[in-house]
Amino acid sequence: MHSVYCKNISKIYHNKKKALNNVSFSFKGKGILSIIGKNGAGKTTLIRILATELVPTSGTVIIDDINIVKNPEEIRKNIAIIPQEARAVQWLTPKQTLISYLMYRGFSYSESKKLAIESLKKLSLTKNLNTLNRLLSGGTKRKVLVSYVLFSGAKIIFLDEPTTGLDPISRSELWNLLKKLKDDYLIVLTTHYLEEAERLSDKIILIDDGKLVAYDSMDGLRKKIKYNYSILISNNIQKMPKFINVKYKIIKGLNSGYQILTNEKDSEKITNILIKNNIKFSINPVSLEDIFYYLVKKTISEDSDNSDNDEY
Ligand SMILES: Nc1ncnc2c1ncn2[C@@H]1O[C@H](COP(=O)(O)OP(=O)(O)OP(=O)(O)O)[C@@H](O)[C@H]1O
Ligand SMILES: [Mg+2]
Repeated sequence: MHSVYCKNISKIYHNKKKALNNVSFSFKGKGILSIIGKNGAGKTTLIRILATELVPTSGTVIIDDINIVKNPEEIRKNIAIIPQEARAVQWLTPKQTLISYLMYRGFSYSESKKLAIESLKKLSLTKNLNTLNRLLSGGTKRKVLVSYVLFSGAKIIFLDEPTTGLDPISRSELWNLLKKLKDDYLIVLTTHYLEEAERLSDKIILIDDGKLVAYDSMDGLRKKIKYNYSILISNNIQKMPKFINVKYKIIKGLNSGYQILTNEKDSEKITNILIKNNIKFSINPVSLEDIFYYLVKKTISEDSDNSDNDEY
């Protein structure tokens, strides 16, 4: 059982930029903890603090009962990180890279060789074992990096945007692998792919401008925003009909269409009105993407239409 406890972490960089502002959360167990947020929200800063690469300006971080701000070296053998900008050494092969990384982590040469081949196989990289890293495609390079930490012996792993730049198939292969590993590991990752984060995360941290906006499971997040259904209007309409005595919010601007957020009870009334007005729609439970837009709306509201009392 792993545990992560963060209390009031702030990080102010030398240029006075406050990248994290009093972030607190705690997690117990194994699984996938995803950190999401816009560019510059503070995701990398947070993951680097958790992985003992950065010292917070203030606040407490305790992982597996170790105060990692005071005693970072005590946790290091149990954790591994792939930074956002990580690159494999160009003139080595994936096999050589992995063997040297595992030896650095304390495995013998023969153990490292066996583990390296096994892990590269698991990531479907067998045919690239002996190709120079510089000759691999960007996505394959990324997979080689992921193989480092997955088989390093560390049980808590930090992945900063592991799937960025991967094609949809490689991305889903990697997420499937992470899904298999989540029974044994605590995987903390950052991502901009919200659909995947929604499907696979046990808990999701949403940060915006250095502040923790929400921290919950997907179901918990759905409850947090008062609308749990999303109605997407599929045809181009000039004017939205009036909905009376129902709770809803209309978002205009996503592909110039309309999206109505509402709750389960009122969705029936709204869809009946849409049908009467011959407006085509699809209805789904709100997605992480809807929640993301909803919760960080203050900073992305330029597309909004304020003509209706509950619109933004
Ligand atoms: N070393 C640094 N010195 C000064 N400011 C920094 C430094 N690293 C990050 N920042 C700033 O801190 C804020 C948070 O950056 P961070 O890299 O944590 O964001 P992020 O959420 O990971 O963004 P992205 O999605 O683009 O990777 C940004 O405003 C960034 O410009
Ligand atoms: Mg980042």
